[in-house]
Amino acid sequence: MSSNIVWHNHKVSRSDRAHNKNQRPCLLWFTGLSGSGKSTIANALDVALHQRGYHTFLLDGDNVRHGLNRDLGFSDDDRVQNIRRIGEVSKLFTDAGLIVLSAFISPFSSDRRLVRNLFPAGEFIEVFMDTPLETCEQRDPKGLYQKARAGEIKDFTGIDSPYETPARPELRLDTSTQDVETCVNGVIDYLKSRNMIFEKPG
Ligand code: ADX
Repeated sequence: MSSNIVWHNHKVSRSDRAHNKNQRPCLLWFTGLSGSGKSTIANALDVALHQRGYHTFLLDGDNVRHGLNRDLGFSDDDRVQNIRRIGEVSKLFTDAGLIVLSAFISPFSSDRRLVRNLFPAGEFIEVFMDTPLETCEQRDPKGLYQKARAGEIKDFTGIDSPYETPARPELRLDTSTQDVETCVNGVIDYLKSRNMIFEKPG
C-alpha cells in the first residue's frame, strides 16, 4: 500500500447506515467443499431474511469469479487473493448496513481468520457446511469431481487440493442429514439467539 494514502472518515457512519435500515449488519460466511450446499442454503436463507424485511446481499464464488475475480484461478495464491477481496467487499457491504451472505469454498483457515479479523466481535458468523466429501462427490452437480478424478482439473478441493476444516465455526450444517428448511431455521435461530435479528413489524 502506498504510504501517501490517508483514510478518510465518512460523514454518514456505519451505524447511521445500519440504523436507517433498522437492522444489525453481519457477515454469514459459508465455507465447505464444492457441492456441500453452500449456495443452496445461502440462497434459501437470503430469501427467508428478505421475506422478513431484512436488507441482504449474497456473494457467491461461481458468480464473483465471473466478474470481480475473473482474473483468478485455483492455485493457492489465487485462492488467497480471492478470499481477501471477498472479505473486503463483504466488509464494505456490511458498512453499508447490509446482512451479507458469502458462499465460497475458502479452504484455508488463515484466510478465513483474516476475514474474521476485519469484523467486530460477533459480526463474523462462520457457517461450516460439514457435508461429507463422499456425498459432495456423489452429487457432483457440475460434473467437476468426475473431471478432477480423471485428472482433467488440477488442484480440485478435496481431491488434490486441501480443505482445512474449521476448528470453531459458529454453526455447523450437514446437508446429507438435514434438509434445506432445517438448515435455514438453524441459522435463523442462531441469529435470533444473538439478537442479530428480531421479528420486524409489518
Ligand atoms: S475458493 O477455493 O477460492 O474459495 P470459490 O468458492 O471461489 O473457491 O470457487 C469454487 C467453485 O469454482 C466451485 O464450486 C466449482 O464450481 C468451481 N471450481 C473450478 N475449479 C475448481 C477447483 N480446482 N477447485 C475447486 N473448485 C473449482
